[in-house]
Amino acid sequence: MSEFTLRVNGSERRVSVSAETPLLWVLRDTLELTGTKFGCGAGLCGACTVHVEGSAIRSCSTPVSEVAGKNITTIEGLSPNGLHVLQQAWIAEEVPQCGYCQTGQIMAAAALLAKMPNPSDEQITQAMNGNLCRCGTYERIRKAIHRAAGEGGAR
Ligand code: FES
Ligand code: FES
Repeated sequence: MSEFTLRVNGSERRVSVSAETPLLWVLRDTLELTGTKFGCGAGLCGACTVHVEGSAIRSCSTPVSEVAGKNITTIEGLSPNGLHVLQQAWIAEEVPQCGYCQTGQIMAAAALLAKMPNPSDEQITQAMNGNLCRCGTYERIRKAIHRAAGEGGAR
């Protein structure tokens, strides 16, 4: 066990875990931030996507030791009231089906819009390519990203 200080959703959190523990387990089990989901555990599906210093990363395959001291944002911290422009667009377009992949989808989309406020279809496909949805909500995800981009994107 080692001590790490994480900056999660704007707050400093001290955790005592082994250095190779995936960030996903620390978020879900230690810090009880269960909005981030476990899908494949192997970096293949995107369900566990969070932001580190504003970039989308796979928390299931990122050891906690790699992100100590860095700014981490989870779905719980994306907006203070759960009404980030993307979350509103997701509601308006009725994107989720089972919902399981959607945290990762929204976090990937938020990182995209922060860097590229008005992405083309092709840029959306490229950015969202690694986020799988077994329910096949891809078309609604694309519409919601365009809607959010039209309403100011990264807010
Ligand atoms: S759970 Fe992390 S990529 Fe699938
Ligand atoms: S909404 Fe069911 S896996 Fe994406």
